[in-house]
Amino acid sequence: MSTNVVSYENCGGIGLLLISNPPVNALSTEVITGLRSAVSTFEAEGETKALVIYCKGRTFVAGGDIASFESPEFDTRPFSSLLTRLDAFQRPVIATLHGTVLGGGLELAMACHYRIAVPDARFGMPEVKLGLLPGSQGTQRLPRLAGVPLALDLILSGRFLSAPDALAAGIIDEIVDGDPLALGIAAAERLVRTRTPVRRSSAMKVVADAAATQALARAAAAAGKKPAYPALGAIVRSVEAAVMLPFDEGEEIEAREFDQLRVSGASKALRHLFFAERTAARIAGPPQAVGAREVRSVGIVGAGTMGGGIAMNFANAGIPVVLVETSDEALERGLGMVRKNYEASAAKGKLSAEQVQKRTRLLKGSLDYGSLSNCDLVIEAVFESLQVKKDVCARLGETCKPGAIIATNTSTLDVNVLAEATGRPADVVGLHFFSPANVMRLLEVVRAARTAPDVLATAMQIARRINKVPVISGVCYGFIGNRMLEPYMRETEFLLLEGALPQQIDAAIESLGMAMGPCRMSDLSGIDIGAKVVIGQAEAGALPPDPNYRVVVRRLFELGRNGQKAQAGYYRYEGRTPLPDPAVATICADLARQHGIVRRSVIPDQEIIQRLMYTLINEGIQILDEGISYRPGDVDVVWTAGYGFPDYRGGPMFMADQIGLSEIKDTLDHFGRVRGNEFGYWTPSNLLKSLAARGQRLGSWSKD
Ligand code: COA
Repeated sequence: MSTNVVSYENCGGIGLLLISNPPVNALSTEVITGLRSAVSTFEAEGETKALVIYCKGRTFVAGGDIASFESPEFDTRPFSSLLTRLDAFQRPVIATLHGTVLGGGLELAMACHYRIAVPDARFGMPEVKLGLLPGSQGTQRLPRLAGVPLALDLILSGRFLSAPDALAAGIIDEIVDGDPLALGIAAAERLVRTRTPVRRSSAMKVVADAAATQALARAAAAAGKKPAYPALGAIVRSVEAAVMLPFDEGEEIEAREFDQLRVSGASKALRHLFFAERTAARIAGPPQAVGAREVRSVGIVGAGTMGGGIAMNFANAGIPVVLVETSDEALERGLGMVRKNYEASAAKGKLSAEQVQKRTRLLKGSLDYGSLSNCDLVIEAVFESLQVKKDVCARLGETCKPGAIIATNTSTLDVNVLAEATGRPADVVGLHFFSPANVMRLLEVVRAARTAPDVLATAMQIARRINKVPVISGVCYGFIGNRMLEPYMRETEFLLLEGALPQQIDAAIESLGMAMGPCRMSDLSGIDIGAKVVIGQAEAGALPPDPNYRVVVRRLFELGRNGQKAQAGYYRYEGRTPLPDPAVATICADLARQHGIVRRSVIPDQEIIQRLMYTLINEGIQILDEGISYRPGDVDVVWTAGYGFPDYRGGPMFMADQIGLSEIKDTLDHFGRVRGNEFGYWTPSNLLKSLAARGQRLGSWSKD
């Protein structure tokens, strides 16, 4: 028996069931149909002594097919009933495991009677990251095999276990190095020869001791604090059912919980992001057959906070880095900061002494540009000034070897201008890291007008190597993320002038799930930083001709209220704790008087949310229209990976579809009417207008 994705053969009295569904052997409907048919064949062959299940390619089954969850007909029960059939065999069923044995893959393995794994196999239940739970008996079998505390921990966190840890936990039975198929056959022959009775995980008793009760109570309390993630509570209830009820009753509760989670907004959003992150890593447009350039060593110019953080990413990935500075003191300060960061991680037990040593050994400092001449990639991370960066780029153009890539970490300057300054613009790309650069997952990869295709391909590849989530942006002021932040900050300041308080604005925005409201965020990143950007744009004549535009941040800066580091900004601070500061209301009231702005005593939270978020969304759609970003999902990845946008809302473009594009357009029009639209703040982008008119969603829109 064989289908495209599942084959079965009888090899000397042992049934061999092979799953072959690249890239990760996900359980598509076709795979499940193939499995059922193969199991029926084995069932019918009464003389076949054992069944071995194994997978082709890089991994055993890495889970259910996430794309299939979108189908209204999706049901976990056909797969669960197949697992029940496997479990019930009197003849041994063996799973032979390699790669990442995840979700439905681990459920399949746990339904088998014996699990054998290669040493580097890894195990996990990552469904929670998709807002789901293991829906095919996983919440019932794992507590039976591994105990309630560990099962809860694994299912609630989605973290992976190594093979030795899985063995110690009782999740697998044996670790042996070798070819998965040969290992499976050997284990099957041994189990048959020794007449080892089959061991069914469904028949095991769940240990319901005090540790189990405490773990459940703790998990229930933690889940109660995160109502935006309904999967957490559902997982606790399902594991509790494993403790309290017979297997089949627990299984039914789990299936019902899964059904509800699958159609929940949170899970839909998280599934959208799963694919959006992976799609963002692919270069949009017609596929180009370009290879990437090789990157074996990296140079960084500027050992400030940014340069040091960027350097750590490469050292962490085992790539040697040379950091270049202009003075001994600056270099020593930069390298010292990196060492301190590593030592802090070691003190928290996140890194071993050996890892710290290995990473610091990969970092070298130098005062000589000549030491960059052999680097494959050089990133400039110097002071954000056009002249300074142009000078550095010109020097790099001369110093770097032919074929080396020159990247700029600018966040506000024109990458095309910097690229020309090198004299070799095809080699130039923007790499916009976010601070702290060693922590933040997002990397905006800026494609300049003349960036060579293989340079872009290399940038995307290296981003993945250093564990970043890369998103391509075209050249524009602020790229994707900071450009969308502009209307959001503009409306924040207008609302402050009209009478809203920083704490009210932050609370309204945080109620949406944003990690931090705009005022707290500005205080953290530095009022001076924000003000200098506005002042720089004013000097460049790039501000709207609106005398009221961003006057608050400029006044706070004049007053030295530079944010958390100055213990005063939009808030006053006790340590890191922001406290409402009546002085800020006075500053805003004075500014409002000077600028003739009418203050209101009540500003509804809904108005705050609409004015900040709908203008931000409108800017995102404009960015798509201009081709600065190619896909709505890319914009969502920028905001969820880099700006604290709640993942359970899927990002601003996904959220726009949930709100309805017509509703957003109509609301912008409404504000334009009531507030006046002299500066175009409320003009819906053409793309928003046309999508709204056609009743189309961003989710089904594409640039091509
Ligand atoms: N269903 C459908 N497609 C899946 C998938 C799944 N469960 N898991 C991975 N894929 C696809 C990815 O979308 C990607 O496709 P693409 O190449 O077209 O972009 C491809 O498989 C490779 O995945 P990727 O994540 O890029 O590779 P990786 O080697 O970094 O990681 C995994 C592999 C399996 C560890 C990772 O993909 C993963 O964690 N998958 C999700 C597992 C999961 O949640 N399982 C439970 C589902 S309920």
